Amino acid sequence: MTRTPAYAAELRAALTRAVRGIDERELVRATEALVARYRSVAPAPVPILASRVHVMAYAAYRMPATHAALARVMDELADRGLAPRSLLDLGGGTGAAAWAAAGTFDSLKSITVLDQVEDALVLGRELVADAPSGVLARTTFRQAVAGSWPDVGADLVTVSYVLSELDEAQQEALVADAMRRGRIVVIAEPGTPDGYTRVLRVRSALLAAGWTLVGPCPHAADCPLGQGDWCHFAARVSRSAEHRRLKGAELSYEDEKFSWLAAAAPGVLEPQAAHARSGRILRHPLKRKGFVEFQVCRPDGTAGREVISKKAGERYRKARDAEWGDVLP
Ligand SMILES: C[S@@+](CC[C@H](N)C(=O)[O-])C[C@H]1O[C@@H](n2cnc3c(N)ncnc32)[C@H](O)[C@@H]1O
Repeated sequence: MTRTPAYAAELRAALTRAVRGIDERELVRATEALVARYRSVAPAPVPILASRVHVMAYAAYRMPATHAALARVMDELADRGLAPRSLLDLGGGTGAAAWAAAGTFDSLKSITVLDQVEDALVLGRELVADAPSGVLARTTFRQAVAGSWPDVGADLVTVSYVLSELDEAQQEALVADAMRRGRIVVIAEPGTPDGYTRVLRVRSALLAAGWTLVGPCPHAADCPLGQGDWCHFAARVSRSAEHRRLKGAELSYEDEKFSWLAAAAPGVLEPQAAHARSGRILRHPLKRKGFVEFQVCRPDGTAGREVISKKAGERYRKARDAEWGDVLP
């Protein structure tokens, strides 16, 4: 959770440059409006990012967090041996997934971000103008509305923090569009009970279509988390000075809670990779003297407590470094 994603500093610097010159009171007002709107979780009949200032506010206060969450997911895909050559980001806004994927995959040759809000795409282009990677700097930002996406295919399709703005039928259609266009699909949502519920629905659709789950689930059985619990993780985001001012926050960091799912179309994962599963750490591990205690989701479809003690040698050393969201050593 404390790992800093690649390009986080460069993204922050680009955001700082972008918001320079914008009236801070306007930004604060727009940030407050967005915070309230995103709390309400209801389909958005008109774009929530209603003006250039709203887009700026979104980018300044949310993009570092969605970037951090997506960077964790991209690292997982890389750990599973995936090396996409192309990325398509549906509802990509200002391009958080593009920054995350470019920071992880040297294999990437092209990135396309599609969104309905032109101002978000304009800002996305500005942000990547001095990006530290060539492929990121060449990202195509193009206007498109869900239901009428252009026919672009990609190895990896991301749908990040978008589903909550759509009704259930639109969510299903968006996931189907992502599956038609991609070999690997990644969904990220806020790490709330309703974000998790949306992710679970996507999980059912992907499994019904014969896709293989890449993560976080180590199995394809029903989710074992019971009533009152929901599968979510956390990515640490350091806050810049303007981020702190916008949110009226004092801490120099925040933890972005997110739920996610990644799946591969039939035949994409090597048979070995498709079966190589270990448990998933569901909470902050408790690091005690001589042992580490975990809550995990297990490959057999159950969830519960696992203890790795000093006697386990190398595995124990890895356990001391393991964090919430990692694969169990
Ligand atoms: C919360 S933002 C997430 C942006 C970006 N994916 C991220 O993770 O930072 C939701 C994005 O979805 C886009 N969006 C929502 N409904 C859409 C639709 N019907 N068609 C195209 N884009 C849509 C919005 O314009 C907005 O940019």
